[in-house]
Amino acid sequence: MIPLQAPPAARTHNSRMQDKPMQDPIVTLDLADWKGARHDAHWTAALEAGKVLYFPNLAFPLSPQEQALLRPDVLLPDVRNISLDAQGQLKGAAGDAQVQATLAAMVGRFRADALGLIHAMLPQYVPALRIAPTSYRPAQVESRQQSWRADDRRLHVDAFPSRPNYGERILRVFANVNPAGVPRTWRVGEPFEDVARRFLPTVKRYSPLQARLLRMLRVTKSLRSEYDHLMLQLHDAMKSDARYQQEAPQRTVPFAAGSAWVCFSDQTPHAVMSGQFMMEQTLHLPADRQYNPQASPLAILGRLTGRTLV
Ligand code: SIN
Ligand code: FE
Repeated sequence: MIPLQAPPAARTHNSRMQDKPMQDPIVTLDLADWKGARHDAHWTAALEAGKVLYFPNLAFPLSPQEQALLRPDVLLPDVRNISLDAQGQLKGAAGDAQVQATLAAMVGRFRADALGLIHAMLPQYVPALRIAPTSYRPAQVESRQQSWRADDRRLHVDAFPSRPNYGERILRVFANVNPAGVPRTWRVGEPFEDVARRFLPTVKRYSPLQARLLRMLRVTKSLRSEYDHLMLQLHDAMKSDARYQQEAPQRTVPFAAGSAWVCFSDQTPHAVMSGQFMMEQTLHLPADRQYNPQASPLAILGRLTGRTLV
């Protein structure tokens, strides 16, 4: 791993934190049907600018049998999420065959709804999308104990240490399925370019030699590009900076039970503060297949550094 000096403990509770003024990072949309979306140039531009598209009335409905699986002990010990891969294989779930089958059907149905939404809203993406596993997250956010680097209660952009992605986008669809009306509360931060301008002067330089070493030692599954290096550096710089966590421009957003939201999580600074029971679908998209490739983190970092990063 890249050596980093131990960061100060960041304040991860937002009780005393106040929203800092900035352009609203949330675009609220009135859609109540997963199949009822249509393409809209304004929403698309907002999404590609790093805003969260929030659908307060877009519920993912559960059957009574599925509702009975809204409990954290459907997770295997030491597992964070239940996931369904492209082959229909369910991972992370405890319980008998009946429980497993009900969970697989529930998660599979969410995948179909999430894909339906994205396909209708963003038709140009469709032929280029790569579908990642779909997850059901029954754990309570507040009770999780994690190292600072793994702590998603700190503002960050998503970046994966072991899986270089060469600028490929991380598009995520979320639905809060909490049965007791508990919101999933996020903090959403400043535009990606502001994050990059703030932290790029402080990050460690890319070392091609170190990238080769990480590959040889199988720390990474493929060679870590300079893009992947910078994204990880931004992720770590944000999470390890207690003052940034507290003072960065941000808005606290309670995503209601029975709502859904969509964002590019490699671009939108986000932190999850509280909540329980969520569905999530990740989709990957090459940056050059966006409506506006110039809005991507790859293009922004390329412009700011003046270098070709992949
Ligand atoms: C994250 O992507 O940082 C976590 C989002 C969530 O669990 O709500
Ligand atoms: Fe994240």
